[in-house]
Amino acid sequence: INKLKSEFLRRASHELKTPLISIKGFSDLILSLYANQLDSVITSKVREISDGCERLQNIINTLIETSRLESPELKPKVKKEDLSFLIKFCVHELESLAETRKQSIKLDIADELFTNIEKEEIHDVLSNLLTNAIKYTPPTGKIEIKTELREDFVVVSINDNGIGFTEEQKTKIFQKFGKIERYGQGLDLGIDGTGLGLYISKKIVESHGGKIWMESEGKSRGSTFYFTLPTV
Ligand SMILES: Nc1ncnc2c1ncn2[C@@H]1O[C@H](COP(=O)(O)OP(=O)(O)OP(=O)(O)O)[C@@H](O)[C@H]1O
Ligand SMILES: [Mg+2]
Repeated sequence: INKLKSEFLRRASHELKTPLISIKGFSDLILSLYANQLDSVITSKVREISDGCERLQNIINTLIETSRLESPELKPKVKKEDLSFLIKFCVHELESLAETRKQSIKLDIADELFTNIEKEEIHDVLSNLLTNAIKYTPPTGKIEIKTELREDFVVVSINDNGIGFTEEQKTKIFQKFGKIERYGQGLDLGIDGTGLGLYISKKIVESHGGKIWMESEGKSRGSTFYFTLPTV
C-alpha cells in the first residue's frame, strides 16, 4: 500500500506541474507586456495568480521529493520515447517565461532521439534545467540546447550566458536544498526556488543510468549543464 501511495503521489505531482507552468508563464507574460495598459486593480490580481502558482510549485516539488524519499527503491517505468520531441515540447512550454525576460532559446538538436525513459521524469529534469537557465540569466540573455550522439548514449547540454558559478558554488548545487542566494547581484529574479530542482534532477538522471554535471568558467561567465541518457 505504501508503495502504491507514493507512486500515486509522484504521478499526481507530475501531472499538476505542467499546467501550472503555463498558468504562471502566461500570468507573468500579461504582467510584463500589458502592465501599463491595465488597471492597477487587475494587475495586482494577476500578480496574486502568479504568486499563488509559485507557492503551489514549491508544494508540488516537496511532494515529489517526499514520494521519492519514501521509496528509494522505486525504479522509473521506462518506455521507448523520442527525446527530441520531449525537448521541443518542454521548450514550447517555457517560451513565454523566456519571453518575459526577453531571452532567446536556440535549439541545435537531432530530429529523432530514441531513449528508454520515463517521460514525465525526464520532462522534470529538462524543465528544471531550462527554468534555471532562464531564472539565472539576466534579461536579453541567450540560452542554447544541444544534443550530441555518442556510441550508446546521448548528451544533452543546456548553455546560458548568465551569472555562472564560482568554484565554491559549484560544490553544493546538486545537494539537497543547494540553493545559492542570488540577490544583490543585480538580477531581478521574480521566481524563488527551494533548491531541490538539481538534487531531484540528479536522482532522476542517475535512476535512468545517466550522469549529470555542470561546467562554468566563473562568475558572470555563464553555465552549461549536461546530462546523458542511454539510447536504444
Ligand atoms: N543556469 C544556472 N546559472 C546560474 N546559477 C544556477 C543555474 N542553475 C542553478 N543555479 C544555482 O544553483 C542553485 C540550485 O539550483 P536548483 O535548481 O537545485 O534550485 P532552485 O532553482 O533554487 O530551486 P527549485 O529548482 O527547487 O525551484 C540555484 O539556487 C541557483 O543559485
Ligand atoms: Mg531550479
